[in-house]
Order: sequence, then structure tokens, then C-alpha cells
Amino acid sequence: MKYGFHDVRNSLERASARETAARVAAGAVAMKLLEEFGIKLHSHVLSIGRVKANPPDQGAIDWDAVEESPVHCADSDVADQMMAEVDAAREAGDTVGGVVEVIAEGVPIGLGSHVHWDRKIDAKISQALMSINAVKAVSIGEGWDLLDRWGSEFQDVIEPVTDPDRPWQRKTNRAGGTEGGMTSGTPLVARFVIKPIATLHNPLPSVDLDTGEPVQAHFERSDVCQAPPAGVIGEAMMALVLADAFMEKFGGDSIPETKRNFEGYQATVGPRLRYS
Ligand SMILES: Cc1cc2nc3c(=O)[nH]c(=O)nc-3n(C[C@H](O)[C@H](O)[C@H](O)COP(=O)(O)O)c2cc1C
Repeated sequence: MKYGFHDVRNSLERASARETAARVAAGAVAMKLLEEFGIKLHSHVLSIGRVKANPPDQGAIDWDAVEESPVHCADSDVADQMMAEVDAAREAGDTVGGVVEVIAEGVPIGLGSHVHWDRKIDAKISQALMSINAVKAVSIGEGWDLLDRWGSEFQDVIEPVTDPDRPWQRKTNRAGGTEGGMTSGTPLVARFVIKPIATLHNPLPSVDLDTGEPVQAHFERSDVCQAPPAGVIGEAMMALVLADAFMEKFGGDSIPETKRNFEGYQATVGPRLRYS
């Protein structure tokens, strides 16, 4: 109606997540840049439908095994159950959604801004992940688990350590690597919920938009569960945001120049933050 089309296909096809192939290609270039500075991105599936993973702590995840997993899951004990959930939905002519986590390791302190609303790194990551087709919620760190916890149970307490670079570290990384709109030097962690997609093999009731007559929704083809591929898109989106923030902070017209700027800054603020 907005564009004056009669054929809904004009919008439907353009809204397809096939468009994200271009984002993944651009994200691969951003990842190459970030790798030059020791930043690496990963993703893994935390749940599919009713099946929830119980993954190891961030630092202990075997990323090669995640890449091998057909459902991109870090908990090999539940991968079969996740596949069974997808098969059950397929057999019922239905679809299932899921929760995906994206992690960037090796992120330096201080990307983003504590002042400008449009430069806050957590806000930028949220927008980028929310822009993925069918994503309905985004959380930074353990944001969704915050509601049933008191402040003392949620804060990333600072503890003393013997370290020549810095005499303290964080005990946990619940805030997901951002504080005050800036990266805090611990890994960046964001989660998103991707809904069960709309085109069902067993269509839901709908109406003919011209006549108002009841009809079954049109079905052509459909994925059953798009959580694992959405993780790949999520990595690309986080890489694009980080590469942008990185170049805003360190600038340069060549990798050696950016490295000089980066190393000068590192010498001032110290290396990435440790947490136990
Ligand atoms: C990797 C991926 C694959 C998708 N495949 C389908 C599909 O086969 N059928 C479908 O109806 N939606 C699919 N979607 C979701 C639609 O693109 C999305 O629901 C639609 O563009 C409307 O956007 P919204 O749900 O964010 O409002 C897919 C999404 C992603 C990320």
C-alpha cells in the first residue's frame, strides 16, 4: 500500500534474508581488518525451540567444534535434541526460532562513547543485530537474565591481581564487554532472539486482501529454522560495527598507520582487560 504496488511479491522478495549474503560478504572484509588487531568474532546457538544449550564459559568454547556442529551449538550434548526439534517442526509443517550469541574476543578498551547517544557501542550493536530479518530481541551480555537478580548478583566486581600491566581485573563479564557506551576490554557479548519464520508448510488462515474472503496463507518454500545461519549474519553485523568504531578511533590510510595509532593508544591505556 505504501509504495502503490498491487503485487505483494515486490516487497516480499526484497525483504528476504537473501539480502544478508551481501552483509556477510562485507562483514568478511571487516573481520579481516579486525584480525590484524587481534579481534576475532564467533557465534553459537543457545537454543532452538524448547531445547536449550548449556555451553561452557566463553573462554572455554571449542570454536572448531561449533563450526562442525550442524546446529552451530557449543554444547554437543544437546545438538541432537536441537536437530530433533527442527525435524519435529518440519514434520508438523511448522517452524522454530532460537537464541544466538555473538562474541568478539580481543576488543580493546574504549571503542564507542560514553557521551553521544548515537556513538554508544552497545546501542550500535543492538541496532545492527536487530536489523537482521526476523530478529525480535537483542541483549548485551546477560541482559535478559538481569530481572531476577539483585545488583550485587549482577555487577562485574573488580578484584586485585598481581599483573605488571594493571593491578586489577574483572571477576565476571556479565555486562558483555561494554560499560557507559564504551568497550571495557573484556569480550563483547550480544544475544538475539530470532522468531520462528512466518511461511509455514501448514499455512495459517488469512484473507484475500482484495476481497476480504478467508483463504489459507500462500506457501512456496520455507526454511524451518534459521537460527544457525543467523549466527553467521550476526558475526558479520558485529564486525561491521566494530570495524567502523575501530577506524573512528584509530583512523589511518594504511594498516601500518592504523597499527601505529593503535599501539600508541595501547601504550597509554594498557592491554585488553582480563577477567577470571
Ligand atoms: C537466514 C534467514 C532465513 C530466513 N528464511 C525465511 C523463510 O524461508 N521464510 C520466511 O517466511 N522468512 C524467512 N526469514 C525471515 C524473513 O526474512 C523475515 O521474517 C521478514 O523479512 C520480515 O521481517 P521481520 O520478521 O523482521 O519483521 C529468514 C530470516 C533469516 C535471517
